[in-house]
Amino acid sequence: MTSIQGSTTIPATAPRVESAQQAYDDVPYGSFPVSASHPDRLYSMASLFGQKPVLPDNARILEIGCAGGGNLLPLASLFPNATCVGVELSQVQCDYGTKAIEFTGFNNVTIQQGSVTEIGPEFGEFDYILCHGVYSWVPDFVREAILRVCSQNLSPNGVAYVSYNVMPGWYFKGMIRGMMLEHVKGIAEPLKRIGQARALLKFLVDANVNSHTTHAEFIRTEAALLQKLPDSYLMHEYLEEHNNAFYFRDFIREVMQHKLQFLGEASIASTWIGNFTRDAQKGLEPIADAIQRGHYMDCITGRTFRETYLVHADRTVNRNISTEQLQEVRFSAKMEYLGAEKNSSTGSVLKRYKSKTGMTVQSNDTIIQHALELLTENYPQSQSATQLVEHLRKTLPKELSEKLDVNHIAGNLIQGVLAGWVEFRILPDRLQLRGHKKPKVTDWARCQAQAGKYATNLRHEFINLSEINRQIIPILDGTKEIPEIVREVSFLIQSGLLKVQLAHAESNIPAGEIPKRLVEEVLSQLAMQSLLMPDA
Ligand SMILES: C[S@@+](CC[C@H](N)C(=O)[O-])C[C@H]1O[C@@H](n2cnc3c(N)ncnc32)[C@H](O)[C@@H]1O
Repeated sequence: MTSIQGSTTIPATAPRVESAQQAYDDVPYGSFPVSASHPDRLYSMASLFGQKPVLPDNARILEIGCAGGGNLLPLASLFPNATCVGVELSQVQCDYGTKAIEFTGFNNVTIQQGSVTEIGPEFGEFDYILCHGVYSWVPDFVREAILRVCSQNLSPNGVAYVSYNVMPGWYFKGMIRGMMLEHVKGIAEPLKRIGQARALLKFLVDANVNSHTTHAEFIRTEAALLQKLPDSYLMHEYLEEHNNAFYFRDFIREVMQHKLQFLGEASIASTWIGNFTRDAQKGLEPIADAIQRGHYMDCITGRTFRETYLVHADRTVNRNISTEQLQEVRFSAKMEYLGAEKNSSTGSVLKRYKSKTGMTVQSNDTIIQHALELLTENYPQSQSATQLVEHLRKTLPKELSEKLDVNHIAGNLIQGVLAGWVEFRILPDRLQLRGHKKPKVTDWARCQAQAGKYATNLRHEFINLSEINRQIIPILDGTKEIPEIVREVSFLIQSGLLKVQLAHAESNIPAGEIPKRLVEEVLSQLAMQSLLMPDA
């Protein structure tokens, strides 16, 4: 295999991977952004744990098993100076991706049809290697190749992301898969297999209608979940030839054999001991080794899936975050105010909030309460503790502003990160909430809006677009000031190309004002959906 630069291609696929290729050609996998695999997230965790990762903006990014490019293309759009390469076994999915690249005109991304097993050192080094939803779903020799590439093709300061199903939680799901596979034995046609698998599940639910055993409850839960998921998911998760789950410590053993090491889990909160009960903490605390501890955490929670970040084994990972590092961390949080109670003896006020992740958080620290309220007001924009102090200094009364302390705020918010109710990042935001001069939606999201009703936002999430937003997004290319956008929208309304069904159309707003009000409303909605980039 030759270097990725230029127009190199992967040699013909090895025969042993053909059955997987056929499966994904027959029923292509929905190709979506995976927010935990965003290089900004990898960059943030690597920086926090003492690494010197490459800036995603100029990085070389490889995605293994990238399907139709739903994860890779938004990255190529966001980072025009990065080089993005996808390797995908299925010709059909590769063609989807290649057509999308042609449509967008992106010149910094390629998707090559081929197998990860064919990638050698000459393919080049990458600063971020992403592999979502592949590791568990391939035979042993492909799995081995994934970790080999994550090691051999990772630049010295590179970070890799691998997701996989984990034991012991997956035993239960494996039971459903086992029953489905037994039931569809002998049926070759993919859609018939899916139909029969769904029919079996329905039969099991109906047959257990009066039962409240653990088995019956589990079947009901799984059936309800699978009902919401598309056929392609059911096919590849439950009916695929390969789906292997691993104990975390076994996965890490494989990782270490490839001279890689565990950096962290995409969700820090899922591995933070403070999120376990007191009794669980007593059992976990004596386990010094992070991997063994992670294993027992999985046993406690019955976790089924992990998204793990890896770096080279020779890097020094430091999870003791220094005060200086904390000052570089940017926080964001959205807290719904639930109520307050005054302590009559101390006079302090305890405020309760609900986080975006559904956790109840309480604080009787007035400064922290103000910091949380400020973060909420600006969510999802992030702010460092220093910025929060600067803002609060201008608004708080003197007796409080004198007590403002960057380290105190940063220390509290990092606890929130560990507990899972505060988000963090290191790099400045890729999104802007208000005050745009020349509003811009990414090129990829503008193409998506032209093609359908979903778009990838700047938090790497898949967003449902209203019809009106879908029609206005293509105009927002960052070259036009708001009056010009209003003129275009006005023209679209007059020519009947844009049907206004907003409240303004029916209210007593003068007709001439409608385009302006409409643009204001759309921009505010798009900002809330994290679709507007910062002004250039
Ligand atoms: C479950 S899908 C996940 C797709 C995508 N990463 C995602 O998360 O949406 C697994 C993908 O891996 C691809 N794949 C399977 N074996 C492969 C191999 N040997 N080399 C490269 N890609 C492979 C499949 O064709 C499929 O697109």
